[in-house]
Amino acid sequence: MSISVSIIGGGGRVGSNAAFALQCFGIVREITLVDVNRDLADGEALDLIHGASLCADQVIHSGDMADAAKADVVCITAGSRRKPDESRLDLINRNVSIFKEILEGLVANQLRKDAIIFVVSNPVDVLTRLAIEHLQWPAQQTIGLGTVLDTARFTSLLAEAKGWPATQTRALILGEHGDTMTPIWSSAAVGGVPMTSLLSANEQAELFKRTQGSGAEVIRRKGGAGYAVGVSIAEVIHAIALDSRRILPVSTRMNGQYGMQKVCLSLPTVVGRAGVIEAKAIDLWPKEVAGIQGSARALEATWSKLA
Ligand SMILES: NC(=O)c1ccc[n+]([C@@H]2O[C@H](COP(=O)([O-])OP(=O)(O)OC[C@H]3O[C@@H](n4cnc5c(N)ncnc54)[C@H](O)[C@@H]3O)[C@@H](O)[C@H]2O)c1
Repeated sequence: MSISVSIIGGGGRVGSNAAFALQCFGIVREITLVDVNRDLADGEALDLIHGASLCADQVIHSGDMADAAKADVVCITAGSRRKPDESRLDLINRNVSIFKEILEGLVANQLRKDAIIFVVSNPVDVLTRLAIEHLQWPAQQTIGLGTVLDTARFTSLLAEAKGWPATQTRALILGEHGDTMTPIWSSAAVGGVPMTSLLSANEQAELFKRTQGSGAEVIRRKGGAGYAVGVSIAEVIHAIALDSRRILPVSTRMNGQYGMQKVCLSLPTVVGRAGVIEAKAIDLWPKEVAGIQGSARALEATWSKLA
C-alpha cells in the first residue's frame, strides 16, 4: 500500500463515503478524517475501523488540521449547503470563505510542499482555481473532481437505460461541473461501437438531460450524493497512488487548450503520482469545443464576481 490521504470534511456525507470507498479498495495506506464537527469525524473513523478486519490493513483515524497537512493527498470535501433565502452566488461566497480558511489552516500547519490538493467541495472548478491562486500552489499538484462524477453518472445511466454492460460503456462529460457541462458524443462508445449509431438524437438528448439533473435528483430523494461521488473520488486518488496515468476528466488549470487560460475545468487529463501530467486538447466536434469554451466563460464570470 502506498500513500496517505486526509479528508477535510470527512465527517460529512461525501467525505465519509469517499473514505469507505478507499477502504473497500484497500489501495491507500492511511486515511485521516478531519472535520469541524470532531465527534462526527471520530464516529465515522470508528465505524470504518470496525470493518478493517474484513477489508484491508490500513491506518484509519480522525485528526486535526496538523494531521491533515501531513498527508500525500489532501482531499477537501468540507462545504456548506444553500440556505432557503440564499442565492447561488451567496453560497459560493460562503464556501469560498470556508475554503480559504481551510487552505490557510493547512499552510499554518506546514502543508507538505509535495502535497496534492484534491478539491471536491462546490463550486469545484472555482475552488480548484482558488487553491492555485490563493496559495500559489503548483497547478500540477492541484486537482478538482471536475466532471468525473458527471461522467460516471452519464455512462452508468446510458448503460442502465439500454441494458449495456456499464463497465464497457464509455461517454465523457467535459467542461464545468455545473449547468454548462458538455456531453462528448463524438467519442462515446459501447464495447468499441460508436454510440451515435446506437442512439437516436432524441435518446441522446433525453439521457444527457437526465444526467444533468442527477445531482439535484439525488439531493431531492436522499439528501445528497454519496456512493457514486465516493467511488469517483477513489478513482482519482488511486490514479495518484498507483501512478497509473489514467486519463480522467478532472478539473485542472488551462494553459492554452482551445484558447483557454487560467480557468480550471475538465478535459481528459493524465493523472499520476505527481498529480496532473497533461490536460489534453483532443479532436472534438466544433459544437463540443464551443460547449467547453462556454463553460470557461461561465466560470470566468463567476470568478470575477467573487467577494
Ligand atoms: N464535486 C462533486 O462532484 C461533488 C459531488 C457532491 C457533493 N459535492 C460537494 O461536496 C461538499 C460536501 O457535501 P456533503 O453532502 O458531504 O455535505 P455535508 O454537510 O454532509 O458535509 C460537509 C462537512 O464539512 C464539514 N465542514 C464544514 N466546514 C468545515 C471546515 N472549515 N473544516 C472542516 N470541516 C468542515 C461539516 O462539519 C460537514 O461534516 C459540498 O460542497 C457539495 O456541494 C461535490
